[in-house]
Amino acid sequence: MNFLELAKKRCSVRQYADTPVEKEKLDYVFEAVRMAPSAVNFQPWKFLIVTTDDGLKKVQSCYGRDWIKTAPICMIACSDHRASWKRGSDGKDHADIDIAIAVEHLCLAAAEQGLGTCWVCNFDTVRCRELFQIPDYLEPAVMIPMGYPASASIFEENNKKRKELNEIIQQY
Ligand SMILES: Cc1cc2nc3c(=O)[nH]c(=O)nc-3n(C[C@H](O)[C@H](O)[C@H](O)COP(=O)(O)O)c2cc1C
Repeated sequence: MNFLELAKKRCSVRQYADTPVEKEKLDYVFEAVRMAPSAVNFQPWKFLIVTTDDGLKKVQSCYGRDWIKTAPICMIACSDHRASWKRGSDGKDHADIDIAIAVEHLCLAAAEQGLGTCWVCNFDTVRCRELFQIPDYLEPAVMIPMGYPASASIFEENNKKRKELNEIIQQY
């Protein structure tokens, strides 16, 4: 599978099978996260890996969609604002950019391994912070449920609705 095929394969999976995720696959996915680039190589992130029933219930209570209850694992990607690069010219904090790259490494590596993921940002971050005792300098930025898709064919069948190239590029 070349990169474009992988990019087309990755899709948002919102229903998971009971099948447990092998430790080797989780390790593989996190090695891909570890390789993500970041501004000044500061790597300003912390990933909470939630696998226990108690932890997953907490995750579910932060995101009111039933489908998330089917995920056997959920990651909470946190941006570390203490560690992130702030641009000198305007002070821009690059934590959001960095965490997004790392999260997409995660999702792509998972898809390559046949695992489904879904970016989830529309969750209750205040509740998440409380339940997982996340300190102030970390921002719970993205939840990423992960597991084998309930439908084995989802990777082949997902139809990407995307803007045309001429809508997103401009030649100078
Ligand atoms: C930053 C970001 C936040 C997202 N938040 C949510 C979310 O809270 N819930 C959800 O179901 N999907 C969420 N998504 C998934 C998008 O809806 C999805 O990526 C988009 O519709 C394209 O579909 P695809 O991932 O299958 O290619 C999010 C995606 C991104 C990149």
